[in-house]
Amino acid sequence: VLAAGERDRYFGDDDIKEILYTQEELSRRVREIGRSITEDYRDRASERASDGAPGLVVISVLRGAAIYMSDLVREIDLPLEMDYMAVSSYGSGTKSSGVVRILKDLSSQIEGRHVIIAEDILDSGLTLKYLMGVLESRNPASIEIATLLRKRTERQVDIDCKYVGFECPDEFIVGYGLDYAEHYRNLPYIGILKPEIYQGK
Ligand code: XMP
Ligand code: MG
Repeated sequence: VLAAGERDRYFGDDDIKEILYTQEELSRRVREIGRSITEDYRDRASERASDGAPGLVVISVLRGAAIYMSDLVREIDLPLEMDYMAVSSYGSGTKSSGVVRILKDLSSQIEGRHVIIAEDILDSGLTLKYLMGVLESRNPASIEIATLLRKRTERQVDIDCKYVGFECPDEFIVGYGLDYAEHYRNLPYIGILKPEIYQGK
């Protein structure tokens, strides 16, 4: 599945049930999303924040989305600022409660600016819904979501994502920033984790 000339084995391969998106498929799709964003925001690209920073701010939520974001911003051919938030969701286990605590807030002011949230994966959507509420209260000029993955699941709340990379199966997936217990984030592809890895844990 991996490209010719690349390594043909990665450290986590044995723990992966199925590769969903190869390194090449990810980079092609991220390039497409970047091009769409470039087209859509071109007219607004000359706007500036009051401190002279670019009018466009791309935000990612640490840590999962950091790898996707770093690839995405290099495919957006416009001035932009990169900023980060860190949140922790209340509640235990793999299900999110939708109430999140902000561990690290943005460094930038977003009032009057155009915000794009680069998210790794939308599952129930509760985390992002909460975050959107927080950010909207700061009166940005606009705010959109660019998620790499959206799970096909009944659990999903109504949330408007302008850019979606892939609709993925409702399984536990890792790689390209996504982790299980902080493992696998640096796999260059995205795959389904074998259930026996996390079952009984
Ligand atoms: P909600 O349900 O609020 O949760 O949309 C989104 C967050 O949950 C994490 N998440 C996953 N992480 N593999 C992961 O490594 C997955 O399959 C998965 N599903 C959800 C992720 O942190 C996301 O931001
Ligand atoms: Mg995460």
